[in-house]
Amino acid sequence: MRNSSSDSKNGVARISISLPSDLLASFDRVSRKAGFTDRSKAIQTAMRIFISENEWLSGNESSKGAGLIELLYDPHTRNIEKALTLIQHNYDHIVTSSTHIHLDDDNCLEAILVRGDVRSIKRLAKELAENRGIKSIKVNFIQVI
Ligand code: NI
Repeated sequence: MRNSSSDSKNGVARISISLPSDLLASFDRVSRKAGFTDRSKAIQTAMRIFISENEWLSGNESSKGAGLIELLYDPHTRNIEKALTLIQHNYDHIVTSSTHIHLDDDNCLEAILVRGDVRSIKRLAKELAENRGIKSIKVNFIQVI
């Protein structure tokens, strides 16, 4: 980053960033609740979580890991449950289990646990997301290192 300085002896970089003051206030409030007394430590933790959540999307597609795919969908959509089940059958080499929660009249949540390579998990998530009736999809991936 351009406006940063680094202390090579300690491997520490110092940066200056601009952000909305209400965002900072929320961050400080939440990090205090989470037990952080040092803002730098809280930001480091937040950055590690951000990297862990997003790095897999651009990383090596052959790398292995495990994850959770969460699907929120409308159960009134024709054939949606059958479609979701058939897709999971096609990926039975990576799907380890799934749980279904009937949230309310118009919403179902399907939580699918997977383990395998990044490529397969991405493909499964894409095929699931393409179905009509899917309101949202979230993929949480943890790389095995
Ligand atoms: Ni349901």
